[in-house]
Formats: sequence, C-alpha cells, structure tokens
Amino acid sequence: MTFLQNAWYAAAYSDEVGESPLARTVLDSNLVLFRDDQGEAGVILDRCPHRFSPLSAGKIVGGALECPYHGLRFDRQGQCIYNPHSKTKAGLRAADIRAWPVLERYGIIWIWPGDADKADPGSLPRVEFLEQPEQFCVVKGLLHVRGHYELAVDNLLDLSHAAFIHPQFSGGRYTAEELLAATKQKLERCDGYLVNHRVRSGLAPPPANCDLFGMDPDKPCHTDSTMTWYPPAFLLLATGSWEMDQPRESGVHIPQLHVITPETQFTSHYFFVNGRNRRHGEKAVDDALLAFFDLAFGQQDEPMIELVQRNMGSVSDIFELGPILLATDAAPVSARRMLAELIAKEQADAKGDAEAVTIEAQT
Ligand code: FES
Ligand SMILES: [Fe+2]
Repeated sequence: MTFLQNAWYAAAYSDEVGESPLARTVLDSNLVLFRDDQGEAGVILDRCPHRFSPLSAGKIVGGALECPYHGLRFDRQGQCIYNPHSKTKAGLRAADIRAWPVLERYGIIWIWPGDADKADPGSLPRVEFLEQPEQFCVVKGLLHVRGHYELAVDNLLDLSHAAFIHPQFSGGRYTAEELLAATKQKLERCDGYLVNHRVRSGLAPPPANCDLFGMDPDKPCHTDSTMTWYPPAFLLLATGSWEMDQPRESGVHIPQLHVITPETQFTSHYFFVNGRNRRHGEKAVDDALLAFFDLAFGQQDEPMIELVQRNMGSVSDIFELGPILLATDAAPVSARRMLAELIAKEQADAKGDAEAVTIEAQT
C-alpha cells in the first residue's frame, strides 16, 4: 500500500498528549507521542530497539521518554540520551530510533512521514475559522473508521449521500429527489486542490439550525455545503444557512475541518473540528452538536464506509473494481486522480534520486 509521504497527517489532538505518552498507529507505523519539559510534542517509533518494548507504556523522566522494560531514555529527536546500564549513563547512539517531523497547529499534532527536509509548516492549508476564536467556537471529535481513508474522502466529496443516509438533515420534510433538485453543484479545479461548490436554495433550513440557532423553519433559505479538498485528505466544509433575501453573513455558519489519516491500509482516524458563529460557550449546544455529528458520522457514514470496504474485500483502490460513475462523482474522482498523480510523481522522484545515488557510487 502506498501513501503520499510528503504531506502533513493529523496524528492526535493536542489535548490527547499530556503527561502520559500516547500510542497511535499512523500509516502502518506504530508511533508514540509525548511532550518534553517545555511541552514540545515529539513523535517517535513506539518500539524500543533493545527488546522491542512499547515505549508508550513508559513514562516521561526529565523531558525524555523512559522505556518501561530496562530504562533507556529517548528524546523528541529519537536519540537515546540515557543508558542506566553504562557507567557514565551516557546515551547510546546505536539505540537511536526514528522520529517524525512534528507540527502543532489548530489544536492538532501533525506528522510528516516523508523527507524531513521537505517538511514545510507553510504547506499545511489554512483553516480560517480556527484563527477567529472570537467569531467561531468549536467542538471536536475523533472517529475510528474501518475502511480505507479514500472511502471516507469519497463520502465527504459526494454529499449527495446526505439525502439518503442522513434524513435528519432535512427533518423528513423533503424527498431525496426534492433535496437533490434544489441543490446546485459545481466543481472548481484549482492548482493543487479542489472546491466542490454546493448550495441548496429555496427550501427550509436544516432543522438543527432552527432548533439550536433560532432560524425560522418557514422561511426558505440558501444552505451551503461547499467542500474544499487538499491532498491527501484535508477537507474544509463551509456549512451554513441564510434566508433567501439576506446576505450570507447574516446566517448560521458551522464551518468544519475534516481530516482523515490512514491508520492502516483498511482503517482510518477521522478528525473533525466544527465551528459555529452562534451560542458560544453553551455546553448544552456543544453536547447537542456532538450528538448530531456522532449520529451522522459515527452511526450513519462510518457503518456505510465499513460495509463498502467489506464488499471491496482486500482491495483499497476502488477503481480496480470498475465502479460505475454518477454525475455527483466529479469531485471524488478528481481528488483520487490528483492524489494518484502526486503519489506516482513522488515515487518517480524517489526512484530517480536512488538511481542518481547508485550512479554516483559507481563512478
Ligand atoms: S526493551 Fe527498552 S530498554 Fe530494554
Ligand atoms: Fe455523511
């Protein structure tokens, strides 16, 4: 299985990594996340090079991670900086282990599995609503998805499924056909990313926007669900509703960040951070939104993705099975093609680099 290597992947929420180390599998690698004395996050291999004990079962001592078995200690760079079995207690270079470049931003710890020299913090797409805390408060969640991560991306890039799988979004007031007929969709292909514009007009607002945020269920509105995708699986959803004759800014907006990180070839971590521009600091609203997202993502989307993966067996690339395509597939198909091209280019570049090294060694 091949993943894009030179990209930032969400490994954990910042607040998951406190005084204790955290074990997490990302891109088929067993990682341990921890913090040093300054609170800086480190991500290293969760396998001590001595007897292969999981370092995540150890503890932080003097800002380093101590192996629970025989006490070697490792810093954020994966260097063994303390060996209790030597006279000097000095670190052991031969015991150094792999560390991943880390970026902590937007309340998430991101890792870069590829070439460390290319790990540019500037390449992480911006999430504007997370830079405007006075305008948007947030709730967040993390789901385990039993399916290839691109199936979760397909799900998010083709929101026509909502008319069928998420009846609560429209409160049963409209048929799926009415919902689809009222929705205009247009895919915009940009340099390195996609924007799938999707606006439904002339129907009532989603019931949640009435129940929680006071929108009038009898006033027709525009409801936006435009999705922006950055490779490999970083998605921004502009969810919002506003009355037909009012400016967009007047409405209820629930901008969302969705990031899918492959855990293994057939399982994924699904991070979602959802903002809102109304009713800040109200726990009852936080809870209601979390219950809403748990129903939609956890109880409706995830089981469908799992069943799809089960029907695909041990195939991870859906194109291998020759799926038929519908008009609404423009965005997911374009994203898959763009990602496949990036992975192919990365592999060709790596092969070219390896051949250059071989030629250099031979001359
Ligand atoms: S297994 Fe880690 S020090 Fe022995
Ligand atoms: Fe969904």
